[in-house]
Amino acid sequence: ESDEQLQQRPPVVTVMGHVDHGKTRLLDAVRKANVGGGEAGGITQHIGAYQVHTEHEGKDRALTFIDTPGHEAFTAMRARGAQVTDIAILVVAADDGIMPQTIEALNHAQSAGVPIVVAVNKIDKEGANPQKVRQQLTEYNLVAEEYGGDVMFVDVSARNDVGITELLDAVLLTADAGLDLRANPDKDARGVAIEARLDKGRGSVATVLIQSGTLRVGDAIVTGTAYGRVRAMIDENGESVSEAVPSRPVLVQGLSSVPRAGDNFIVTPDDRTARQIAEKREAAERNAQLAKARKRISLEDFT
Ligand code: GTP
Ligand code: NA
Ligand code: MG
Repeated sequence: ESDEQLQQRPPVVTVMGHVDHGKTRLLDAVRKANVGGGEAGGITQHIGAYQVHTEHEGKDRALTFIDTPGHEAFTAMRARGAQVTDIAILVVAADDGIMPQTIEALNHAQSAGVPIVVAVNKIDKEGANPQKVRQQLTEYNLVAEEYGGDVMFVDVSARNDVGITELLDAVLLTADAGLDLRANPDKDARGVAIEARLDKGRGSVATVLIQSGTLRVGDAIVTGTAYGRVRAMIDENGESVSEAVPSRPVLVQGLSSVPRAGDNFIVTPDDRTARQIAEKREAAERNAQLAKARKRISLEDFT
């Protein structure tokens, strides 16, 4: 890929942290802060991920948030070999401080090589001690700038919409300082299914994140053992879109079955090819299962 084919793409961000430290509330606050998003009580679609815009250093910048609760989804996707996150926001409640799942989450991010921005949440609460959170995290190699490190910590109150713009700024600063977030939009799309379900009216639907290329309505795709032609794509505002560029999440309709979170997708030359790839994978999975079952039976014979 030559340099001039590569274009800047928005960072893809996952929110992680201990139970009840405010991940969901923070994602809500981020959505509300969307510049020009026209949000008024109304995301009409849950699509598992969304993009927001913010003004950063005088420029309009987009960020993609993966709206998955906690780090189970992160782990599940990594188990399939999918690396979708560019940056992790680690949410730590300022009254509780670090807790077991805080450490688990930061271990996941660190072992995936994903840079972390710390959101010290619930600073509105009595007993909040944001400095203590900074001190605690130095033991885990997350050293705040004011302690001589290079990790950005931002004090926020997801409840009162405090610090949200600053948090988005910190994410973009971290992205711009350490990551080369570019992709070529001028080719067949590739990406990852981050969430999928069977929808009553729409059939099998999957939220896919485009990682390179451009996905268009009419493209034949295969993801895991699901395949089909993209019949429609819907964004987080419930609007139909005809194409999706790198870092954009869209809900895709037209798949033969429900893929798994973390399944990669590719565009194929035609739907026959997509089906052949899917059927080969299905056969391989069946064989693997049969082999496992046989092994179990032969072990049982000896016990
Ligand atoms: P799980 O998904 O269960 O792990 O929790 P979570 O991390 O998504 O936490 P959630 O957003 O559900 O928030 C947990 C509780 O903390 C809720 O009652 C929130 O209203 C509350 N909460 C979240 N952020 C703040 C905050 O900034 N200040 C205060 N006072 N409460 C908050
Ligand atoms: Na909760
Ligand atoms: Mg939650």
